[in-house]
Amino acid sequence: MYSLHSVLLFIPHYLHLLLINLHMYNTTMVKEMEAATQNWLANVQPTVDNIEALRNVLRFHEHRYYVLNNPLITDFEYDTLYKLLEKFEIENPQSITKDSPTQRVGAGLIKDFPKKQHLVPMLSLENSYNAEDLLDWDRKARELSKLDSIEYCAEPKFDGASISVVYENNQLFCGVTRGDGETGDDITPNIKQIRTLPLSAAFNRYGIEQIEIRGEVLMNKTNFKKYNDAIMEEGLPPLANPRNAAAGSLRIKDSKEVGRRNLEAFLYHVSYISKIETDALVPLPTTHSGMLQMLWELGFRSPQNEMKVLKGIEGIIQYVAEFENKRDSLPYEIDGMVIKVNDLNLQEQLGITSHHPRWAIAYKFKARQASSKLLGVEFQVGRTGAVTPVAKIQPVQVGGVTVSSISIHNEDYIKEKDLKLGDKILIERSGDVIPQIVKSLAELRDGTETEIVFPRTCPVCNHTLEKPVEEAVWRCSNINCEAQVVERIIHFVSKDAMDIRSFGEANVRKFYTLGLLKNVPEIYTLNFTEIGKLEGFGQKSLDNLKTAIEASKTQPLHRLIYGLGIRYVGETTAKTLAQKVNNLLEFKNFSQEQLQQLDDVGVKVAASIHAFFSDEENVKMLEALQQLGLNMNSAKSISTDGNLSGQTFLFTGTLHKLKRSDAEAMVEANGGKILSGVSSKLNFLIVGEDAGSKLEKAKKIPAIKILSEDDFLKMLPT
Ligand code: IVH
Repeated sequence: MYSLHSVLLFIPHYLHLLLINLHMYNTTMVKEMEAATQNWLANVQPTVDNIEALRNVLRFHEHRYYVLNNPLITDFEYDTLYKLLEKFEIENPQSITKDSPTQRVGAGLIKDFPKKQHLVPMLSLENSYNAEDLLDWDRKARELSKLDSIEYCAEPKFDGASISVVYENNQLFCGVTRGDGETGDDITPNIKQIRTLPLSAAFNRYGIEQIEIRGEVLMNKTNFKKYNDAIMEEGLPPLANPRNAAAGSLRIKDSKEVGRRNLEAFLYHVSYISKIETDALVPLPTTHSGMLQMLWELGFRSPQNEMKVLKGIEGIIQYVAEFENKRDSLPYEIDGMVIKVNDLNLQEQLGITSHHPRWAIAYKFKARQASSKLLGVEFQVGRTGAVTPVAKIQPVQVGGVTVSSISIHNEDYIKEKDLKLGDKILIERSGDVIPQIVKSLAELRDGTETEIVFPRTCPVCNHTLEKPVEEAVWRCSNINCEAQVVERIIHFVSKDAMDIRSFGEANVRKFYTLGLLKNVPEIYTLNFTEIGKLEGFGQKSLDNLKTAIEASKTQPLHRLIYGLGIRYVGETTAKTLAQKVNNLLEFKNFSQEQLQQLDDVGVKVAASIHAFFSDEENVKMLEALQQLGLNMNSAKSISTDGNLSGQTFLFTGTLHKLKRSDAEAMVEANGGKILSGVSSKLNFLIVGEDAGSKLEKAKKIPAIKILSEDDFLKMLPT
């Protein structure tokens, strides 16, 4: 580590580089800046002599963030440094320089699209992290305005890409990215693809000729998951968060592709209005919440239903806390709340600093990004033999949980992310997205980092691994590989399969290690006397386990099929299969072609099912399960002669009247079938809100009837 003294000596040496050409700095400088950053964060006190060094550190990080799109520190760390400088400059106004990071709006641009100047510069907001910060901010606003209590509007801080849209004479005129705050990229054709933005709106009702509105473009969690699933299916690495997906999508040159991404926008701030000299029919709102309502009424998506207007900061503090609890259940990502002075006149009176408006503040929720270190990689073998590398990282808190291991998917992913053992890494846990490594901070390497070597033999059974050309995953093809056997048993007892509640992963592993359980049929012949001798197995837990195992014998056939863990056979295909036979063992006699005739079963799936039932070991296992009393027969509970008999259905998008699972159950109860994807075998696609690629695909197949949720309900018997 560098001493503070040596760091300070280095800074002036690089100063000319920073001012002249930020693109030309080298790796040594990155390390020096990183060391200087750590020193400032470790409580170095600013003085008139060292304050320029702090400014340089901030300039450096701004450049990383805005120009290179590649930050080295978290927002919180940046804010801490920024506030340190700001506080010093307030106390020592004579030391402020014209080019201090506190004296400007933003930084550079990405040179792609035509540039367009915003009508009003797009400022960013000051950040706050706790109730104290908010109380402080409120106190300052009250002092400035000489009011006892201020009315505020609190609304979500949407975590996407910010945009500015201008409407002229009721028509959408242009859409521009934030850029450097003064000038952004003109992305109008892409903006027009966002369906939550009307192409025209009756602003003339208010006598508005030109209006500039700020908002955030988002990809909702469902679409993000679909998008990530689709790119992962192609063997490509997933994106870490919906924000990157939204920002990246806005920069695509092909607007049609932008349309396919199903972006949405929330509009939350009117920054400029010019009026026509006429008697407007409706007076312009005088409050921020009034503006949000006006936008809502004109057909925009504003946070009209999410906002709360309250007098005094205390209620607002409570509201933001309540909202933080709801964060994970929202359909889109938010990273905090924004609190705004509601009265527009008062906003104007409070004005802006060089950087932020004084009338608004962002309240940031717990960070979902953190930095850590890549300590090692374990290679785990799944139930189908897929070998997945799992990164072991220095444990770190992200979004309220401690993360110590993260899947790093496959060998190509490791190469693409340029991961090395010993690397400092940036990780993110975004809502219900599993934690992911955003990137390695390669600039901070010191030469001790080592390559991650992907094994060519199974780390559990030593069998040679195989990788079909078209796949991204290496696989162990030894079906008796211990790891696969254990994972298969875990899958068999799991909730969506046989649902043997008291069993669970830990017990499977424990019993297997002790030699009490070697394969699936042995679940039903467990030696309870031996298990009773184990620590933690009292009479009550033994009884619970026995009952749960016994109860699983009568599970419907589709659960058993799903529990077998046949590759590509998910719950939907398992249901299709269960409907096709009276007894499971009949599948022994099915040819691959016959299997392919079934709804939802393509070549790949048929081959996999066929291989499973052609394997003598598997058949023996099924016969053993039948002997042990498991239900192998098709439950006739699902009707095949209701009024949807013979018809196939698929639901997509968000349903409003029915839960997806209930709707699917209704189809089955009336003799219809659920398919898992759009194909020529599909008869009806039922479309909810925000339907995506399935709808697009279905539109290309004329035989598929596309219906709304209401149309579907009309098909059911009353
Ligand atoms: S108001 C002049 N409201 O957060 C104030 N911003 O640094 C204009 N953001 O750049 C911003 N949700 O991209 C505002 N409800 C909201 C917001 C919001 C997200 C973003 C916006 C801005 C950043 C604040």
